[in-house]
Amino acid sequence: MSGGLLGIEELTRPEIEQILVRAKDFQQGHNQPVRKYDLLRGKMIVNLFFEASTRTRTSFEIAAKRLGADAISITAAGSSVSKGESLVDTLNTLGAMRPDAIVMRHAASGAPHFLARHLPTPIINAGDGTHEHPTQALLDARTILDHRPSLEGLKVAIIGDIAHSRVARSNMYLLSKFGAHVVLCGPPTLLPRELASLTPNVTLTYEMREAIQDADVIMMLRVQLERLHETPFPPGEYFGFYGLRLEHVGMASPDVLVMHPGPINRGRELSSEVADSQRSVILNQVENGVAVRMAVLERVLNQ
Ligand code: NCD
Repeated sequence: MSGGLLGIEELTRPEIEQILVRAKDFQQGHNQPVRKYDLLRGKMIVNLFFEASTRTRTSFEIAAKRLGADAISITAAGSSVSKGESLVDTLNTLGAMRPDAIVMRHAASGAPHFLARHLPTPIINAGDGTHEHPTQALLDARTILDHRPSLEGLKVAIIGDIAHSRVARSNMYLLSKFGAHVVLCGPPTLLPRELASLTPNVTLTYEMREAIQDADVIMMLRVQLERLHETPFPPGEYFGFYGLRLEHVGMASPDVLVMHPGPINRGRELSSEVADSQRSVILNQVENGVAVRMAVLERVLNQ
């Protein structure tokens, strides 16, 4: 992981394992005072978000602060980007402020890679277009491993708008490195067949029940309406075919984990009963977001 963190694809299994083990050290016990560290004292992290975000941006900010670093967040709407400044000019300006790392989210796939070629500052990808969202896959793996001894041999169903999901791609790279079996499921218009060959051990199905049968993990994805130019299915039909309901959960493994990167749309991707059920680990994912991002920031900044 030279310099920053651009994607899961380029990480080795031992590098991923190191991050996941370190993230465990940073998990906060319930009912215990929040632990703060001095590990990144004097370092400055700039969060640069050109796309909407709640969980990712705040958790990077909390992670930086818990490690003793200074963190500032810049969102496109409140910056000179909305005054027409180009990406390179915005980045050169930020670079001149000498941050120790830049965390970046952008609607264009490859934007952080472009930035990494132009700036000496380590870049952490917080989601680039439909390409990768590496810290999401890391926090998902941390969450699964909090409940299972290993990822090897698990059946992980990823259901929804696969075509536009950077979460699906980063998870595919990570899960395949650890020997899990991934089943991708969604309507034909949102499930490109080429994805079956992105990583080993992947199958595709348009049938929700086939994906869920005996699954150890069900990851639900939002339909990324912001990336769609036309509606890919008749409005109102989506939940009937691809919405996760309690009756589905009964078909999966008895201790199935129901996950969602958020933001969730109740009644669109999953029912409220499922989102709030005992099988849902959606809020554990959010908590692990901070711990995993602490491990990533420490690794990137202490190199
Ligand atoms: C995801 C993203 O931005 O890719 N959200 C997140 O980071 N928690 C998924 C989404 O927006 O649906």
